[in-house]
Amino acid sequence: MGKVLTIHGGVPLEGTVRVGGAKNLVPKAMVAALLGDTPSVLRNVPEIKDVTVVRNLLEIHGVKVDQDPETGDLTMDPSQAKSASNQAIDAHAGDSRIPILFCGPLIHSLGEAFIPDLGGCRIGDRPIDFHLEVLREFGAVVDKAVDGIRISAPLGLKGAKVHLKYPSVGTTEQVLLSAVRAKGVTEVSNAAIEPEILDLISLLQKMGAIISVHRDRIIRIQGVDKLSGYDHTALPDRNEAASWASAALVTKGDIFVQDAQQRDLTAFLHVYRQIGGEFEVKSNGIRFYHPGGDLNPLILETDVHPGFMTDWQQPLVVALTQASGVSVIHETVYENRFGFTDALVRMGATVQVHTDCLGSTPCRFGQRNFKHSAVVVGPAQLSGAEIDVPDLRGGFSHLIAALAADGTSRVTGIELINRGYEHFMEKLTALGANVELSE
Ligand code: EPZ
Repeated sequence: MGKVLTIHGGVPLEGTVRVGGAKNLVPKAMVAALLGDTPSVLRNVPEIKDVTVVRNLLEIHGVKVDQDPETGDLTMDPSQAKSASNQAIDAHAGDSRIPILFCGPLIHSLGEAFIPDLGGCRIGDRPIDFHLEVLREFGAVVDKAVDGIRISAPLGLKGAKVHLKYPSVGTTEQVLLSAVRAKGVTEVSNAAIEPEILDLISLLQKMGAIISVHRDRIIRIQGVDKLSGYDHTALPDRNEAASWASAALVTKGDIFVQDAQQRDLTAFLHVYRQIGGEFEVKSNGIRFYHPGGDLNPLILETDVHPGFMTDWQQPLVVALTQASGVSVIHETVYENRFGFTDALVRMGATVQVHTDCLGSTPCRFGQRNFKHSAVVVGPAQLSGAEIDVPDLRGGFSHLIAALAADGTSRVTGIELINRGYEHFMEKLTALGANVELSE
């Protein structure tokens, strides 16, 4: 049994938290350092488990990683890069999906890569078929091994014209990390264009890559032989910012999220205002608060950027359990991202999940028995419960539900939250939460 977080509910969260570098950019930026002939410096690095996993994977591949004790900045020197054993990769990968993004850089440096069977949060089966398809289009040979997948390219990777079936963030990153040093030009269409993708493109450009982003989700890359290291400051974590914003609504609080950027949260802020939350954009962050009165129900559909991000949905659903009326949420990015609502129902929420596409656009999961739409009826009085965290964002949602609930909750599995929320215990207590952590 891991640590148990005891939460005494009914306390509005008030105060200031700071969001660090984006969890969904920083690990990829670290992998990109492998592509350079000289050291890279990455700044605004959050202290989260996903960063530790990638640091360990880089080090077993011979990359020298130093961290400034004051700033946390990482300096990564790939000049001694070498192959690592399958066992070492598997041992250090944990349940992360990031090893799949090592393929391109390792093939460029060493001619081959090994991918252990991958993990990641349980919000769908998290396949990597798109990744393997694009690697094959770059000329890589993909061999299934008993403990994972070996990928090699004896003749090196060559540029390709690639169309993504779905604007997958990871697959777009796979293309970028493979194409920048491939022979010739690459064009990828139906690509993801999330802010984290554009930030990755910025640091690749600093390394000497030639990349252009065009309308209709087309990205063109002209391969170059050599890249140098980058010096880059990661963009702030907009998903964490949105999580604290939802926490302010749910607990009827007032939270200033330092370093949150309006530019990356536009779709979220629009929905936040619709539901009845208030926010003030300042030069160094955004203040989110519950202005009093009722919250409004709404019809919400998640989508790829610039739509409402799937990672924002779970904390906001908790706020919708407090809205006066019926809300409908259609999750179109992942097939199974409402599992966390079981615990909300046990706490007193009224949530029903459906296999139908309850939104304006039918999605890939319609009529396939995936419960990817939810109907929420509020307001519901939540009561404390025993909770085991199912995944990163669902876990944060359970925390804020427990903080708003009457009575006491005991939460286990909180290690999952450490994957993406830096120092979240310190932040909770700094905001006045009445919590105790016990072994
Ligand atoms: C990234 O995951 C993020 N994770 C996710 O954040 C985020 O929800 C997601 O992008 C969408 O924005 C990181 O960046 C570490 P995808 P990724 O490839 O790249 C399917 C969080 O909470 N798919 O865009 O894995 C996939 O199953 C996490 O911070 C395939 O079918 O997402 C999903 O349905 C959760 N085959 C859809 O595409 C593939 O080969 C979107 O996945 C790859 C993906």
